[in-house]
Amino acid sequence: MEDLRYAPIGVFDSGVGGLTVAREIVRQIPGERILYFGDTARVPYGSKSQDTIIRFSRQIVHFLQTKGVKAVVVACNTASALALETIAPEMDIPVIGVVIPGARVAAESTKNGKVGVIATKSTIDSGLYTRVITEIDPTVSVYGKACPLFVPLVEEGWLSDPVTVEVARRYLEPLLETGIDTLVMGCTHYPLLRDTLAQVLGEQVLLINPAYETARELKHLLEHEDLINDGACMPDDPENMHSFYVSDAADKFREFANSILPFWVDRAKLIGIDEY
Ligand code: DGL
Repeated sequence: MEDLRYAPIGVFDSGVGGLTVAREIVRQIPGERILYFGDTARVPYGSKSQDTIIRFSRQIVHFLQTKGVKAVVVACNTASALALETIAPEMDIPVIGVVIPGARVAAESTKNGKVGVIATKSTIDSGLYTRVITEIDPTVSVYGKACPLFVPLVEEGWLSDPVTVEVARRYLEPLLETGIDTLVMGCTHYPLLRDTLAQVLGEQVLLINPAYETARELKHLLEHEDLINDGACMPDDPENMHSFYVSDAADKFREFANSILPFWVDRAKLIGIDEY
């Protein structure tokens, strides 16, 4: 039987956003291989129903399991909020999402007990960030705000364009009025807007990137389950270490990946996700 420690970690998202999580995993656990799936044909998830998100997520984890992954990271806040609870018990390998690690660090970081969460409409409507933060600390008040224009702005590459700064101002000013001292970037695309968000928020507000905490939690989980790759079995060619799959527009995905990842992505393979 193959040693599971050398199997890849399955990471999935509705599209390119989860690459911010993959990037953090590579930074914190460089010995691990990543097998990434971006559902570029069906993005965005942030405005879809829970039933649809569960169906899509189920298909994707089936696909990842056919590739022999040892664990799955749901690197999409919307899928973590709406589908993780349903699909995790159906699987016999560890599955983690990004919401719980992000919520945990927000609850621990706030000094004045006022936390803001920005995310897609579905994530905000699910109430999961609020639930987890207040379970950890019932004295914390959570202020959620859906920011649907941020995802297309990031995909357009307008990370610090004046239009993006203005949109950020419109979304964030009502949150600032509540007196928050901590803001969770509860959507995979938002860490790419970090500089713009910080410019609008000023120095008083701490920005939380759930990707960072998720990678930390993944590392602990792999150590605990004796699944961590000790580096004894690595591909000779570092470019073959990670693999990327998408359901549409492979070239556009590859271009985006090469603009944010610390290594070169040679190829993203197209698959028919509806077959899974
Ligand atoms: N990846 C999604 C998330 O983190 C954002 C993009 C989408 O709406 O699909 O919620």
